[in-house]
Amino acid sequence: MQEFKPLNEISEIEAVYELEFLAKKMAELDNAYYQDDAPIADDAEYDAYKKRNQDLEDKFPHLIRDDSPNKKIGAKAKDGFGKVTHKVPMLSLGNIFDEEGLDDFIAKIRRFLNYDGELSFVAEPKIDGLSFAAIYENGMFVRGATRGDGSVGEDITENLKQIKDLPLKLNTPNPPKLVEIRGEVYMDKRDFIELNTRHEKEGKKIFANPRNAAAGSLRQLDAKITAERNLKLFAYTWGDVSNPEWASQAAFLKVIKSWGFPVSNLVKTCSSASDIMANYNQIYQNRSEISYDIDGVVYKVNDLALQQRLGFVSRSPRWAIAHKFPAEQAQTKLNKIRIQVGRTGALTPVADLEPVNVGGVMVSHATLHNEDEITRKDVREGDWVVVQRAGDVIPQIVEVILEKRLAESKPFLFPDTCPVCGSVAIKEEDEAVKRCTGGLTCPAQAVERLKHFVSRDAFDIEGLGDKNIETFFNEGLITNPVDIFTFEARDKEIPLEVDLFSRSEHVRLANREGWGLKSANKLFEAINSRRIVALDRFIYALGIRQIGQATSRLLAKHYLSLEALQSAMAEATKVDSSAYQDLINIESVGGAVAKDLIAFFAEMHNQEILEKLHKEIKIEDFEIVEVGDNPLNGKTIVFTGGLETMTRNEAKARALAKGAKVAGSVSKNTDYVVEGSDAGSKAEKAKELGLVVISESDFLKLV
Ligand code: IVH
Repeated sequence: MQEFKPLNEISEIEAVYELEFLAKKMAELDNAYYQDDAPIADDAEYDAYKKRNQDLEDKFPHLIRDDSPNKKIGAKAKDGFGKVTHKVPMLSLGNIFDEEGLDDFIAKIRRFLNYDGELSFVAEPKIDGLSFAAIYENGMFVRGATRGDGSVGEDITENLKQIKDLPLKLNTPNPPKLVEIRGEVYMDKRDFIELNTRHEKEGKKIFANPRNAAAGSLRQLDAKITAERNLKLFAYTWGDVSNPEWASQAAFLKVIKSWGFPVSNLVKTCSSASDIMANYNQIYQNRSEISYDIDGVVYKVNDLALQQRLGFVSRSPRWAIAHKFPAEQAQTKLNKIRIQVGRTGALTPVADLEPVNVGGVMVSHATLHNEDEITRKDVREGDWVVVQRAGDVIPQIVEVILEKRLAESKPFLFPDTCPVCGSVAIKEEDEAVKRCTGGLTCPAQAVERLKHFVSRDAFDIEGLGDKNIETFFNEGLITNPVDIFTFEARDKEIPLEVDLFSRSEHVRLANREGWGLKSANKLFEAINSRRIVALDRFIYALGIRQIGQATSRLLAKHYLSLEALQSAMAEATKVDSSAYQDLINIESVGGAVAKDLIAFFAEMHNQEILEKLHKEIKIEDFEIVEVGDNPLNGKTIVFTGGLETMTRNEAKARALAKGAKVAGSVSKNTDYVVEGSDAGSKAEKAKELGLVVISESDFLKLV
C-alpha cells in the first residue's frame, strides 16, 4: 500500500487527483467485498483508504466528489444495526414502591377479574440490564434483537451469539416450530469493576454502572468486542410462540431451564401478600451479596389463563408489576433555584445542587415541581437539603436540613413573569403550575416543543439532541418543525468555505465549529430517514397539551388519517356537533383534553405549520393491527348494563384486543350494543336507531 503525503503539504490540485484515485480504489475494494464476497484488501488497508479520503474531504470540502466513497450504501450497512420489528411488542412494567402499592396491585386484579379465590404469583428479581429477544426456529437460534422502542429493535444476532449463556440450539428433542425467548443481558458486578479498571489504564471509556457497561458491550457493531466482555443473561418471558406448552409462569421457567436458558435462582412462587413482602425484604437485605445488580422484584400472576384475561393497559400488563427498591438518598447544598419554561409554558423550578453521589450516580439538579412545593417544603437558595433518586426518575428534594440554615436566608420568591419572554405568568383554576402566557411568541416554549418533536417517542431524530436544537434555534436555523426538514436544502445553498477569509454571515453546517462534512451529512441522513412517520407518532410529536403517547394512539386509531382528524377537530369547535360527541366518547378524552385538542387545530399558526409539514413529510394512515379474521376488528362497540361473567373493564379490554373501538354512548356509528342486565336508556336509544343489540354470551362468542 502506498504512503500518503502529509496532509499539510497537499495542494488543492494534488487533492483532486488523490480523491479521484481513492474513489476508484474504494469502489474496487467495495465490489470485491460486498458483491463478490471475496475481499482483496484487509480491514486495516481498507480503513486507511477510508480515513485518507475523509481527511482530504474534511480539508477540501468543496472537492467532494459525487461518487465519494463516503456516500456509498455498501459501507452504510456497516454503519448501524438492522431493524427488527417485534411481532409481539416488548412492553414495560408499572412500578410500586411499598406494601400499600402491592395491596393495591392485588386488589385491582381481583376487582378486574371479579375473583376472590386463590391467586399465586411468581416473584423474580428485576435484573438491571438490557432486555433482549431471541428467536428460535425448530430449536435453532436464528435472530436476536434489542427492545428498541418496544415495537422495533436492533438486530443484535451476532452479538447475542457471543454470550456463552445463550443456547444456540434448544436442549429438547421436540422444539416448537417457533419460539421467542426474552430476558435480560447483564454484566456481573465483578466483571464491571475489572472492565473499568482495565479501561482506566488504557485511557478508554469508563462506564457509570454495570447496566451501562452491558448496554455498551452488547450494542457493538463489531461483535468481537461483545465477545471480550463476558456478558451474561437471564431469561424470564416469551414473545411470539407457535404453540405454548406451559400453563403458568412457573411452568414456563421450568421448561426454558430444561432447554438450557439460565433462570435466576432467586425466583420464588408466593401465594399471599405477606409471602411476597417476606421474600422482597429478604432479597432487599441481601442484595449486596448477589453477584449482579437488581433494582427490585417483579411479581407476575402465575396462571396464564388469568394473565390472558387481565391483558394490558397502555404499555404494561395488568398481571405484572415491578416492586422497586427504595430511593437512595444523600445530603448536599442547594446553590440556586432556576425557573425552566416547558413546552406548554409551565414554569418549573429546578434546584441547582452542589454535585453529590447518590447511590452511584452523580446528581447536580433536582426538580422542585411547582411553586406550592417550594412553599410547602420552604426550600431556599443556600439551604442544605436531602436529595433522593429512585430508578430512572429525576432526583427529588426530600426535605431541608433546617439546623444548617443560615440566619440571613430568605424565603424564595416565585416570579410572576416568564423568565424567558417576560410575559405574565398565571395559574389557571385548579392548576398547581404557573404558566407563561406568551404562547407561540415565547422562545422557551418553542425550543421545548422542538425538543419534544424530535424526541425518541416522536420523530426520533438521532443527532438532533437538546444542545443542537438550542443552538440551531438561537441562530434562527430551526425555529419550527418545518425548518428541520428544509434544513439540508437551505444549507446546500450556502457555498462551502474554502478559506477562512471569505467567511460569510451564513456558514454551512459542515463548516461550523464542532461539525465536519461527515457529521453534517449524518445529521441530514437522520432527518431524511424520518420523512415517513406513523400517525400516532405524529400526533404525539405535535406536543399538544395533555396529549401523551397513549391518547395519541387512541386518536390515530379512531380517526385513521391526519386529514380526518383535522376536519373532525374543525367541526368539533361546535360543542353540540356530532364530531364533538364522537371526540369525547374516545377513552381518556374528557372535556378538558378535547378543549386543548380543538384549540390546537383551530390556531392559524398551527394550521400553517401542518400545511407546510405536509409538503416535507408523509404521514402514514393508521393501520388497524391485523388481529386476524375476527368479526370485531374495526367495529365500534357500546356496553350497557351489568355483565355477568366479567367486569366492564375486562369486557372493554377484550374488545380492544380484537381491534374493536369501545365508545361510551350509542350513535349511528355504533356497530354492536352489548346489552347486560338492567340496561337503561342506551339500550332503548339503540333500538330506536335500529342498531344491532347483542347479549353478553353473543359477545363472548365474538371475542
Ligand atoms: S417481565 C410485559 N421480568 O424490566 C413485561 N422484566 O420495566 C415483560 N426486567 O423491559 C417484562 N427483570 O427489561 C420482566 N424478571 C423480569 C425482569 C424484567 C428485568 C426489565 C425488562 C423490562 C423492564 C420493565
